[in-house]
Amino acid sequence: MEKLKIAGGYSLKGTIKVSGAKNSAVALIPATILAETPVTIEGLPNISDVGILKTLLEEIGGAVTFEDGEMVVDPTQMVSMPLPNGKVKKLRASYYLMGAMLGRFKKAVIGLPGGCHLGPRPIDQHIKGFEALGAKVTNEQGAIYLRADELHGARIYLDVVSVGATINIMLAAVKAKGKTVIENAAKEPEIIDVATLLTNMGAKIKGAGTDVIRIEGVESLNGCRHTIIPDRIEAGTFMLLGAAAGDGVLIDNVIPHHLESLTAKLREMGVPIEVGDEQIFIGKGEHLKAVDIKTLVYPGFPTDLQQPFTSLLTKAEGTSVVTDTIYSARFKHIDELRRMNANIKVEGRSAIINGATTLQGAKVKASDLRAGAALVIAGLMAEGITEVTGLEHIDRGYSNLVEKLEGLGATIWREKMTEEEMEQQKSL
Ligand code: EPU
Repeated sequence: MEKLKIAGGYSLKGTIKVSGAKNSAVALIPATILAETPVTIEGLPNISDVGILKTLLEEIGGAVTFEDGEMVVDPTQMVSMPLPNGKVKKLRASYYLMGAMLGRFKKAVIGLPGGCHLGPRPIDQHIKGFEALGAKVTNEQGAIYLRADELHGARIYLDVVSVGATINIMLAAVKAKGKTVIENAAKEPEIIDVATLLTNMGAKIKGAGTDVIRIEGVESLNGCRHTIIPDRIEAGTFMLLGAAAGDGVLIDNVIPHHLESLTAKLREMGVPIEVGDEQIFIGKGEHLKAVDIKTLVYPGFPTDLQQPFTSLLTKAEGTSVVTDTIYSARFKHIDELRRMNANIKVEGRSAIINGATTLQGAKVKASDLRAGAALVIAGLMAEGITEVTGLEHIDRGYSNLVEKLEGLGATIWREKMTEEEMEQQKSL
């Protein structure tokens, strides 16, 4: 096991490139199950979630190669093998195997998904969608059993706007007989990306990116080549670290439209920003003002940037309030920021940050992926050395983070943990 060490307080400068979107990748890869000939996806990030999904596709008989961000999946020999445990528990997005396997084989057995602990994360809307399409769904000893004689189109109204349920229902519906309408669908860019792949495979989907998605089922889907969209959350993380510890950071390979809510908030704080076609430049963030943020579904402020934003807010003059309306318990990073001298308290679904404070390096633990990003930003801002453990979370979602930050002049490195440190981790 490794930990991350960061010598903070240095100004970051230069260009940093964004990788392919994690939350697209984890849906695009299962979507390949639906094809009858090989699918190529290019620009995939080098993260552990992608590696795990590759092995899961291999477990069900897929022939998969992955090199330089390009994955080729030959799904011809795949079978509906039960995947009740093991790797499926490591990531939340293993739930997409349910929709994709149901769509292709009309049956699947998938363990309940893992992923970051951010409060309750039910999948009732996914199941409601599968049932509406004609599947019988049961939960037996921690695994979801799905079976249908035939899938047929249906009108499905989502009670909660859910990215996962919207994508999962699309996956199950593209080969169902007849027309499916998903109402109150999520509108995140990753949904459009998955719909684009499926459309290039031969699916008939209209309205992805709006709150009503219409799908006309087709008999079969074929392979194609697809380029993934850039990761808006990784790009947002880099914007935040540019504002927090930068002296001119250019973020390359971005779709600026995906980040408008963040750009507006940073400008409100006084961060100088220039927006190009595929790049965003973040100038030195000085004399920053406190702001309030409330996370919302897209195009509102993303919950996935709430934690990294909190680190930046410790540098702003005044009191900021961060409210997460999507998850009830996405505040595990706050205790760690406090160890670093931040003045923050949590009340209900809000964190109240009083600034400006100068963060001090400390030993901290990432409890989840974006908490990890928040602590890396805090470490880059802090005086002295910060040690971040829980790297397995960061590795799930940030591709080559150390190398990318070194490219901006950061002093950051990975170090092996001692036996004693690993024992301490277990007891925390
Ligand atoms: N919800 C339900 N029932 C459901 C599904 C969701 O009540 O059947 C609730 C959730 O508990 C949550 C809200 O609806 O309160 C939104 O959940 P959603 O389904 O949209 O989230 P998700 O699909 O599980 C994806 C991302 C998350 C991101 C959320 C919100 C993936 C693999 N994960 O999760 O990303 O926070 O959308 O934008 O796409 C991350 O990248 O760090 C991350 C956690």
